[in-house]
Amino acid sequence: MTDHMPDDLSAAGRDLRAYTDELRPKHPVVRNVADEWVLLRHADVAAAALDHERFSSAVSRYLQVPNGLDGDEHARYREVIERYLTHDALVPFVPVFKRVAAQLVVDLPRGVVLDAVSDIGAVFAVRAQCEWLGWPAELEPRLLTWMQENHAATRSGDRAWTSDVAEQFDEIIRSVIQPRRAAQVDAPDDVTTRLCRETVDGRLLTETELVSILRNWTGGDLGSIALCVGVIVAQVAEQPGLAARLRTASDAEVDAIIDEMLRIDDPFVSNRRVTTCPVRIGGVEIPSGARVKLNWTSANRDETVFDNNRFDPQRNAAANLVYGIGKHVCPGRLLATWELRIALQALLASVNTIEPAPDQSPEREVAPVGGYHRVPVVLT
Ligand code: HEM
Repeated sequence: MTDHMPDDLSAAGRDLRAYTDELRPKHPVVRNVADEWVLLRHADVAAAALDHERFSSAVSRYLQVPNGLDGDEHARYREVIERYLTHDALVPFVPVFKRVAAQLVVDLPRGVVLDAVSDIGAVFAVRAQCEWLGWPAELEPRLLTWMQENHAATRSGDRAWTSDVAEQFDEIIRSVIQPRRAAQVDAPDDVTTRLCRETVDGRLLTETELVSILRNWTGGDLGSIALCVGVIVAQVAEQPGLAARLRTASDAEVDAIIDEMLRIDDPFVSNRRVTTCPVRIGGVEIPSGARVKLNWTSANRDETVFDNNRFDPQRNAAANLVYGIGKHVCPGRLLATWELRIALQALLASVNTIEPAPDQSPEREVAPVGGYHRVPVVLT
């Protein structure tokens, strides 16, 4: 151990935001108990994300389309994926997401304690995704149960459990794509069917590639949207002035405020890279073939970049890393931004107040998950 490393490098059981705030000023790079080099400062995280030559995304032995690919191969698949996430491709779903959000908030009970993560965020995320992809509403309970189990498995750090849960999700995806691939003519005209007909290098996407793409669109992102809703509702409940500001703000202003709330408390914690040669970063020599973590949550709270983390949507937008940077920057940003804004606006439009539940504090998540585990609120 060298002097730039703290004694205890295990983040297990801790609130990652608080832990990395504590580490970052003195330790820009820490080597964790899993032998990964974790980058904590904004400049280093951004530099590594933009350096596609020396920091490869080929970190897993499993196929990960497109996030585990590099170079031209990544670009070919990324092009296919981006077609589904452009402004024009997503506009038709805006009224659909608004309907889903309005129905959900009308059904929420008033005057009792609700959990913003599981009762609002998770349910909205699953319904919006099913509508977008054309998946049957009957999958909702199965997907919600899966999200809870996936979350518990990730939290536990138990690899066998995590991979078992991942396999269950692949089963759900196969149950949706197999009939569409088999039916040449009368498959439903939806995003999933269109994706099944996409080609790369002049051939149809294989089942394994399709499962990987859809796992990326749904598996990870259902959880992220739910956690983002938790973070947003927690901040609105704690700062009544914010609700008033959001109610009169334009859509663009609401988007900027949400981005800033997520910057301060980014629940999408990190992504991995592997070095292709020895690299010096953050004052530390990292060998070739080392596993590196870009910690977005910490980079987004770097006090040297964000004026001591003062809440300022305009000033802080340019350096905000919630959706990443570089060739792997989140292609789902517009979809996530619209879903989150629509959910928040529907909630604010249908209630007078969103208040913290009396005598119950929000529970922070613990490593490796970010944001909140539970945000108890009362709607009136
Ligand atoms: C809830 C909010 C979301 C957050 C905070 C988020 C954040 C991120 C970040 C930080 C990356 C960069 C990964 C890297 O550099 O290795 C990323 C990549 C990605 N995101 Fe998102 N994301 C969100 C929602 C979504 C949604 C809704 C979708 C699609 C439906 C999506 C699809 C993807 C894909 C496919 C990649 C990999 C891109 C590539 O490797 O080229 N994300 N996301």
